[in-house]
Amino acid sequence: MDKKAFPYFKNWFREYIACFASPEPLIQKNIQLKAAHTNRVCKNICMLARAEKLRNKECNLARLIALFHDLGRFEQFSKYRTFNDFKSEDHAVLGVRVLKETGIISTLPVTEQHIIYKAIEYHNRMQIPPDEANEAVIFFSKLIRDADKLDILKLISEAYEEAEIIQNPALELNLPKSSTCSKAIIRDILTNKMAKLSDVKNQNDMNLLRLSWVFDLNFPETFVQLEKQHYLEKIYKRLPKTEEVRRVRAHLKASLKACQSNQKAQAFHVKDFLD
Ligand SMILES: [Fe+2]
Repeated sequence: MDKKAFPYFKNWFREYIACFASPEPLIQKNIQLKAAHTNRVCKNICMLARAEKLRNKECNLARLIALFHDLGRFEQFSKYRTFNDFKSEDHAVLGVRVLKETGIISTLPVTEQHIIYKAIEYHNRMQIPPDEANEAVIFFSKLIRDADKLDILKLISEAYEEAEIIQNPALELNLPKSSTCSKAIIRDILTNKMAKLSDVKNQNDMNLLRLSWVFDLNFPETFVQLEKQHYLEKIYKRLPKTEEVRRVRAHLKASLKACQSNQKAQAFHVKDFLD
């Protein structure tokens, strides 16, 4: 994708989200929140793409995926007043549907369109489907998943302390405060699995679920950022000081080290995906 095409798509994106402007403060606030998130994910993905030494055309494609990855969030919130996919619909599928209906990326080469649609469709799944065989789709899906997670961890670890965000029902999915953690989530983390949203019963569980993303991060630069910004430490601080949380913390620390040395050992592979 040509660098010059990006401003055109960004302009379209701005006009698209402007349609959802609302006099209702809750809607307006959450639309702005997602627009700001999109901007930061665009920056994150460029940072990861550059660290992976992608060529300009692959970097531009990555940035476009980031721009559109949460497109479905705008219709989702204005229609259902929630970001909870279970209580509304899958925002990734919704976003792809909007892209296809509007035909906004139909001028791009078909191979690029395919990568964009698939990376968006997979960005919020528990995992990239194991039967996905397209190497470019897998690579760009991993990029957007890392870029997205980095920003959510940033939001949760930094802005979370602001009472207004805790009280925003759209962000915390109306979860109650609690002094306990769900056993299923602790078990998943201690066995190196990502926690499941269906096991989340309170705010602690949600924080633990975000910590469990460590098992699904793909790029060395993502780990560098995680450490540099102290995201995990900031999230630990809000968890109850129990023995099981201490075990989770020690386990994640060890897993992080193992992930990083695994990545260093990975052989260099070609990343020129586009013609
Ligand atoms: Fe996102």
